[in-house]
Amino acid sequence: MKAVLKIGGSLLFQNESRLDVEYIKSLGKEIQSIPPKKFQLAMVVGGGRAAREYIATARQLGASEAFCDELGIEIARQNARLLIAALGEMAYPVPPSTLEEAATTTMSNKIIVMGGIQPGQSTNAVAALLAERINAELLINATDVEGVYSEDPKINPTAIKYEEISVKHLKGLIKDESRAGKYELFDLNAINIIGRSKIPTIILSGRDPKNIMKALQGAKIGTKITYT
Ligand code: UTP
Repeated sequence: MKAVLKIGGSLLFQNESRLDVEYIKSLGKEIQSIPPKKFQLAMVVGGGRAAREYIATARQLGASEAFCDELGIEIARQNARLLIAALGEMAYPVPPSTLEEAATTTMSNKIIVMGGIQPGQSTNAVAALLAERINAELLINATDVEGVYSEDPKINPTAIKYEEISVKHLKGLIKDESRAGKYELFDLNAINIIGRSKIPTIILSGRDPKNIMKALQGAKIGTKITYT
């Protein structure tokens, strides 16, 4: 089974501050334990706190949104390199910088790990495009909450988690916030891509890396996006 795994940038940072080496190690170990013959993984990593800090600083310095996006792209690529370091021999040694390159390097039998690729989108859009490009049978979006909620659960702890959500409903939940570093959960771009190709998608918590294997094995976990 071919699957794309998106790792939310926030997962890589401890309490939204320093890089969390123990987490990155445990994620690497968990991914190394996934049988590569059974599950062919391709990964995308977000920018996290570092990207937001660089973007906010550049913006204060008068940089354009596209310039800020370029910074986010680079930081996400650096985060991808950390995952590559954690995966060792199993990973393709460089983050592909285009979809074409990604599609080619997935033939190498190594796990590819990407960051950003082009301004105007989030790494969720990269993951959706990659899943589409390589005909992945599953897209797993590992984030820092248990799935999609009726409201931001960090702001409202009584928010309800959905077991399933239609792509149409999800679109309604997303505010169209398209400034650099501002894409929450999913940006519209990413939703439109998974919607047009009806890519089976699960949003789950990556805080426990074991959740990834559970999703690959078909367990009911996180929030499943439906297309009916
Ligand atoms: P993300 O927004 O995807 O990372 O990329 P994040 O903030 O860590 O989000 P999650 O937690 O993974 O979902 C950081 C920034 O990099 C730019 C955007 O400005 C984005 O907000 N970026 C990233 C691009 O412009 N293009 C890309 O292909 C990827």
